Amino acid sequence: MAFLEIRDLGKEYPSGNGGLKALQHVSFTVEEGEIFGIIGLSGAGKSTLVRCINRLEEPSEGAVILNGKDLTKLKRNELRQERQHIGMIFQHFHLLMQRNVLDNVCFPMEIAGLSKKEARAKAGQYLEAVGIADKAKSYPSMLSGGQKQRVAIARVLASEPKLLLCDEATSALDPQTTRQILALLKEINQKYKITIVIITHAMSVVQEICDKVAVLENGRIVEMDTVDEVFRNPKTNAARRLLLMPDMQEKEIEKNEAEQEKAGQTGMEERNEQTESVRGTEE
Ligand SMILES: Nc1ncnc2c1ncn2[C@@H]1O[C@H](COP(=O)(O)OP(=O)(O)OP(=O)(O)O)[C@@H](O)[C@H]1O
Ligand SMILES: [Mg+2]
Repeated sequence: MAFLEIRDLGKEYPSGNGGLKALQHVSFTVEEGEIFGIIGLSGAGKSTLVRCINRLEEPSEGAVILNGKDLTKLKRNELRQERQHIGMIFQHFHLLMQRNVLDNVCFPMEIAGLSKKEARAKAGQYLEAVGIADKAKSYPSMLSGGQKQRVAIARVLASEPKLLLCDEATSALDPQTTRQILALLKEINQKYKITIVIITHAMSVVQEICDKVAVLENGRIVEMDTVDEVFRNPKTNAARRLLLMPDMQEKEIEKNEAEQEKAGQTGMEERNEQTESVRGTEE
């Protein structure tokens, strides 16, 4: 039995003329300990897929089976329990700006009911593990993008997930920082035995750390194989196009900076998103 099985997943958003099929008949399996990449152009359905895995978005059809349990069949309170095993990191880090680094990492543990003392001790260990123990008292606004993502990774480790979902987690970072964060993800994959699903539009990310990769185009998986095989012998135009695509990172970074500036002006909205992502709930 696979650790994670996505079976015939479909997602349709309501839209003016008959609904928008963001995902259609998506099926794949991820083995325990694997790093699985899902790659596709903008609008292919990557974020929708990753959000359907933990039901931040409700799939329209299909099943998400984690460790033998079909998450799509669970009631809210059962789902909340299962979600504790699923961590998520994002392009925009989603840190709590009013809390310092240590308190950001403590947040999920406080929600889980740990005492402040216990949470702080564990948070210290996780900050050590991601290499920024010296920033414990800093606020997110004082950190670089790479440092912010390290805090987000420490926070996710604090909830002791078995599965980590990464949605464009390195898209806001420069190439060198990207490599460092990918190396850190590989390290926590091995050290903490966390299975990882990485969503990205960048082939370099897939090549750096993934074992297997699925290519998503218009909501469907059009190609899936080991990373070596897809790089050596891409079988679809979609895969070939992604392989040939110039590095879009510069553009992404610019877009990210503009978005961050905008986000800074909407404090309340941002806070809600942060809480949702930290808790993994959307209610
Ligand atoms: N909440 C929503 N309501 C309606 N349509 C949506 C919603 N979220 C996404 N979509 C649509 O579903 C499709 C897939 O979007 P999604 O965000 O999953 O793509 P993506 O591959 O993550 O793109 P990007 O690389 O730009 O992040 C797009 O056509 C998008 O417009
Ligand atoms: Mg996306």
